Amino acid sequence: MGARPWLPYRRPAHTVKVGVSLRPSRRTNQALLVLLAGAFVTGWVAFWFERPLDSRVVSVLHGILGLGIVVLIPWKTVIVRRGLRRRWGHGDAVALAVVVALSLVAGVLHATLGPLEVAGITALQVHVGSAIAAVPLALIHVVRRPQRVRATDLSRRAVVRAIGVGGTAALAYGALEVVTSVAGLPGARRRATGSYEQGSGVPSAMPVTQWFTDGVPGIDVATYELLVSRPGEPTRRLSYGGLLAMTSITEAALLDCTGGWWAEQTWRGVRLHTLLGNPDHGSIVVRSVTGYTRRFPPEEATSLLLATHVGGDRLAPGHGAPVRLVAPGHRGFWWVKWVEEVSVEPQPSWWEPPFPLQ
Ligand code: HEM
Ligand code: HEM
Repeated sequence: MGARPWLPYRRPAHTVKVGVSLRPSRRTNQALLVLLAGAFVTGWVAFWFERPLDSRVVSVLHGILGLGIVVLIPWKTVIVRRGLRRRWGHGDAVALAVVVALSLVAGVLHATLGPLEVAGITALQVHVGSAIAAVPLALIHVVRRPQRVRATDLSRRAVVRAIGVGGTAALAYGALEVVTSVAGLPGARRRATGSYEQGSGVPSAMPVTQWFTDGVPGIDVATYELLVSRPGEPTRRLSYGGLLAMTSITEAALLDCTGGWWAEQTWRGVRLHTLLGNPDHGSIVVRSVTGYTRRFPPEEATSLLLATHVGGDRLAPGHGAPVRLVAPGHRGFWWVKWVEEVSVEPQPSWWEPPFPLQ
């Protein structure tokens, strides 16, 4: 006897009907794991890039991965209801749900409504902070509720479902972009990095932000000295006055901070190759009085500028006085402030953590 396709299909009790038929199960949780890890990693990669094309590709991918989590909410809700029927041990799972929701809401608000700030805390800070808080909670959650991985998890049907979730998330991302643009929301004016213009041409209106481990030091220019070290040569010491006498380059450069803002200013200073020559190997190390350090490829000696002035005035303490680095093409965390030492070292430029740890 042949199949009887006219018989009505009965959904088993444990399935949920939401658009694509996907059983709320291991695969939903596995997909959440991939999306959460992917969004976390691409968020940091997005913090790395400055150039528009690289930034755009990573930001779009990041947004789609993040919104993929939202797409899976109907299926995860079934799993959550089932899990909550247990008598104990939901604290980590509920905390995870809270921080992921907070991160998602803050990320979308930053991308659509602009650089929002409440009590000195920006939406982007809430976004990144809660994403970081999600990491240990997600690890605890996954370790306490392990999901077996089977060969069939990579079946053709699973791939089709993954494409369905990814496609829906991409549509959601596109819809958000269109609404933002048509409604003329501030998000339409953000750079590919997600940053908003703040204080271009008016240095005093530029926010004061530094890496979260750093603080604004008090530096007396009367006693300040810049140390300049090249391999095989004794360290040179330059006073602030000596350095000022060397500042002949004026250049417009765009500073795009991972704090979510950007500004274009005219900087005045001295090129690093004037101080260090043109090193052909190793790396250029720029260190601040606070110990904050970044390394650059030797060929950037010709583009890096040690600036004493911005917009025709001496730098303000919050913007790096008396001397800061201007690093065109790099995100703000490379623009070392309060520079105390520049040196050429034998290690390659990638010989450092991708993001500052101190
Ligand atoms: C966006 C990320 C996630 C959030 C917000 C989240 C949240 C929750 C919540 C609130 C529960 C119900 C409470 C409980 O069972 O204690 C739950 C259950 C569960 N979660 Fe997650 N979860 C996420 C991702 C994951 C991942 C990546 C896995 C594993 C790979 C996973 C595995 C499970 C399992 C197996 C249950 C059901 C436990 C049961 O039925 O007893 N979850 N989740
Ligand atoms: C739990 C992990 C994360 C999730 C689920 C997530 C999700 C999202 C979402 C949905 C958006 C809005 C996208 C849009 O509508 O344009 C967004 C924006 C953003 N996220 Fe994340 N994110 C996570 C972690 C991170 C981390 C760790 C960073 C940085 C270190 C980061 C940096 C950013 C930036 C800069 C934007 C703005 C991009 C733009 O305006 O186009 N995110 N994120």
